[in-house]
Amino acid sequence: MRKLLLFFMNNIVVNRFLILAGKDNFIKKYTNNWSRVRINKSKSLQENVGFSHSAEVDQAVKKIHDYVTEAAAGLPPEKKILDIGCGVGLYLRDFENARLYGTDLSEDFLAQCRQLVPQATLVRGDYLDIKFEKKFFDMIYSISVIEYIPPSGIRGFFEKIHSELTDNGVMLIQYPHALSVWDKLYSDLSYVSYLPGHLEKLIEGKFSIIKHEHSFDGRKIKGIDAKRYGDGESRNFCNGMILVAKKISA
Ligand SMILES: C[S@@+](CC[C@H](N)C(=O)[O-])C[C@H]1O[C@@H](n2cnc3c(N)ncnc32)[C@H](O)[C@@H]1O
Repeated sequence: MRKLLLFFMNNIVVNRFLILAGKDNFIKKYTNNWSRVRINKSKSLQENVGFSHSAEVDQAVKKIHDYVTEAAAGLPPEKKILDIGCGVGLYLRDFENARLYGTDLSEDFLAQCRQLVPQATLVRGDYLDIKFEKKFFDMIYSISVIEYIPPSGIRGFFEKIHSELTDNGVMLIQYPHALSVWDKLYSDLSYVSYLPGHLEKLIEGKFSIIKHEHSFDGRKIKGIDAKRYGDGESRNFCNGMILVAKKISA
């Protein structure tokens, strides 16, 4: 029944109306409901947050750790850093001299994160609903999360980050990008693959881009990417972009 409902709901025609009406959050409740996800102890933490351990994926994950560390390198020593959708804390644990904050939908993930990164302040909930102080964070980053932010909410997502960053604060977003015209047309609202050029337009005037490239092979891409890693059937963390940008103060 659930599958049938999704078949009729989650397609380019219906989704267009859902986006226009601002109801595109709806599909998420029936698919990737992260708030109900529990830790599976027979799997690694990386697998629990959704990534395999194929050699390619492990390499892709390592590259993202490097991007995050590099983006934080120039920040002040007493920096405040927020990880949106921190999961079990695999990236938060990379930091030593920083005040760390994380948000996530899954209480089970956050319980694990508390063990891994005890010094972090963790808040459970949808980032879009959580109120942080304005101009509070020196860096806000998010790895593999905006695919769960619906098109009608993505502009607000970037505006919220902008308002919570200090002047000159740094934003880093890793996301799966559009690999087909179907992605561009939002054929699947349970996992949205944004066009790199579209995200650049959204942040124009608010952020100056430091880096925007394929997070696995470094290519610069604006539109639909014709190169796809993996078998083409399942999602693969190698298919993604990294966007690093500095806040432009009003
Ligand atoms: C694929 S996992 C990635 C976890 C972590 N960023 C990592 O790379 O290890 C996506 C995470 O985003 C969280 N998430 C999705 N939508 C969110 C939202 N609106 N606010 C906060 N967290 C969210 C989920 O709970 C989940 O833990």
